[in-house]
Amino acid sequence: MTVVEPSPRTAPGFRPALGTALEAIGNTPLVPLLRLTDGLRARILVKLEYFNPTGSYKDRMALAMIEEAEKRGEITPGKTTIVEYTGGSTGSSLSFVCAVKGYALRIVTSDAFSEEKIRTMTSMGAEVVMVPSVGGKITPDLMPRIIDRTRQLAEVAGTYWTDQFNNKDNAVGQRTMGREILAQTGGDVDAFVASVGTAGCAMGVARVLKDHSQDIKVFVVEPSTSAVLSGGEPGTHGIEGIALGFTPPLLDKELYDDVLVIDEGEARDMARRLAVEEGIFAGTSTGANVLAARRVAQEHGGDITIVVPAVDSGLKYISTDLFPRAI
Ligand SMILES: Cc1ncc(COP(=O)(O)O)c(C=O)c1O
Repeated sequence: MTVVEPSPRTAPGFRPALGTALEAIGNTPLVPLLRLTDGLRARILVKLEYFNPTGSYKDRMALAMIEEAEKRGEITPGKTTIVEYTGGSTGSSLSFVCAVKGYALRIVTSDAFSEEKIRTMTSMGAEVVMVPSVGGKITPDLMPRIIDRTRQLAEVAGTYWTDQFNNKDNAVGQRTMGREILAQTGGDVDAFVASVGTAGCAMGVARVLKDHSQDIKVFVVEPSTSAVLSGGEPGTHGIEGIALGFTPPLLDKELYDDVLVIDEGEARDMARRLAVEEGIFAGTSTGANVLAARRVAQEHGGDITIVVPAVDSGLKYISTDLFPRAI
């Protein structure tokens, strides 16, 4: 176990900021695919969530989990230590929100997740507790080990476990994305397609879209080697942030219409094609989302509008083998 020492957030004279940097969260662009829809009648609109301050839509969730707990009087800057386990994106987002607001933060993660994400957390003052993976892969035993470690840390007095998998404030934060999609399309949406980790994004957006119109279809996406939502066994894969080997408690069967199972290799290819053919530089789960959205477009065959999130920035994957290296 490696513990990285926190920065002196609790040093005398440290003052929490008033939230101006937090105002940069949300209001991200929504752009149509230009070339990857060639031959299709559908429009695929991509919500460029990497424009959030830490480069992922998890900033929306982190802000909501902290601010809703503040409203309930459960946490106080300078007194409460926030605890969470994460594949990296949530940790980066919580590090940002906690840095602005002045909370100490302790993150449990693993070397199965990209170095950029872990360095982002330590750079913004989080204490990082590493749980070793087997061969750098997301194996079915990894998350239970990470959760056990987090549970131990959450027992320490004065800590608040944001518990993203069970915390309804997660989906509440993602509703902002749903409202933006309605505003940006004038409500003219036929389908939303999103891969699932905690299900906060899929469920938060689905709630808003389905309240607007029950005709809007929501599809959730998972990799074929760990297709738990469609009845398969948990297995090993390399798509960070999704398919963690169990059905996330926030996933509500009433709020989605179908599960789409994709091939990880094809999702990785799609992430590369998005960068080269569309200038959309995003991660593997975004490749999975666009791959699945194209399948919805092909199978429907009609003139429909499908929205997908570009979950996070390709810059978070520079140290991995997702994108080619210069020779
Ligand atoms: C890269 C990436 N893609 C997709 C997801 C899934 O998002 P959600 O947890 O809202 O289901 C996550 C979650 O951490 C993620 O980090």
